[in-house]
Amino acid sequence: MKPIDNLSVLVTGGGSGIGEGIAQLYIEGGAKVTICGRRQKKIDAVATRLGKRCLAVQADITNEKDRREAVEAAVKHGGKLDVLISNAGNMVRGEIDTLKEDPLVDIFKTNVIAGMLLTGLCKPHLAKQGGAIIFIGSIHTRRAFPGASAYAATKGALETLTRVLAAELGEHNIRVNCVVPGAILTEIYERAGLLSAAESAERLHSMASSHALGRIGTNTEVAEAVDYLARSEWTTGAILDVDGGLGLGLTRDTVTSTD
Ligand SMILES: NC(=O)c1ccc[n+]([C@@H]2O[C@H](COP(=O)([O-])OP(=O)(O)OC[C@H]3O[C@@H](n4cnc5c(N)ncnc54)[C@H](OP(=O)(O)O)[C@@H]3O)[C@@H](O)[C@H]2O)c1
Repeated sequence: MKPIDNLSVLVTGGGSGIGEGIAQLYIEGGAKVTICGRRQKKIDAVATRLGKRCLAVQADITNEKDRREAVEAAVKHGGKLDVLISNAGNMVRGEIDTLKEDPLVDIFKTNVIAGMLLTGLCKPHLAKQGGAIIFIGSIHTRRAFPGASAYAATKGALETLTRVLAAELGEHNIRVNCVVPGAILTEIYERAGLLSAAESAERLHSMASSHALGRIGTNTEVAEAVDYLARSEWTTGAILDVDGGLGLGLTRDTVTSTD
């Protein structure tokens, strides 16, 4: 494993939720971290809380100029770039006959295309360090949620990208991996206008019994898996489920032998 304290890490969507948890893990480990997001207040609050080794850069990753500025800022802040964590993501819900073209294009731009273009921008910097890219997938590729086809399709694309880019970038000494989180209480449903904070909490906790481990996860637990893939030097093309067993499709209707 590479040491953590010398790393320069760029986390997209680091102003909340899982991205904030990842930024915190790297700051606590002594690394330099650049976070980006569209809402200045959110990223500033995280950077202020985490201290000077965390730089906040306002950037919309669907915008080319913003992507370039975020990568340049991360390279300057860290003196190099070791890890891109492509975490920023949005959610769209709706049955197939209700989905409109613009929101579909938008979610593919944010969840898939922006991460691909950022990967291209980061490639020369990561190649110099033997660096790593981590995509954040989703339980939606393991469990089929009716009405979530758009979101699930973007996450399926990330798993495919992980394998193809791992093959493509290996010769540049860049590793590409994907973490597939289960249910984590964040503001993603609220931002999508789907549920209030209280409704999100109720919905996620109601899924606890579907987990082999009986509970939903935390941002920190996802961050730990991200960090393993970022620093483990012989792992590439891996898709790591971090979901408390939600993806197993646990069925509690068991018949136990008394023999
Ligand atoms: N929560 C879960 O249960 C769960 C499970 C599996 C996977 N995930 C994935 O985990 C990742 C993080 O989500 P989260 O749950 O932590 O939700 P979150 O708290 O809403 O975080 C998503 C972050 O992405 C940022 N973002 C969205 N669009 C962006 C854009 N165009 N440019 C820059 N930043 C952008 C948002 O900030 P701004 O709005 O300020 O830009 C926000 O801070 C996502 O990829 C999500 O799909 C979540």
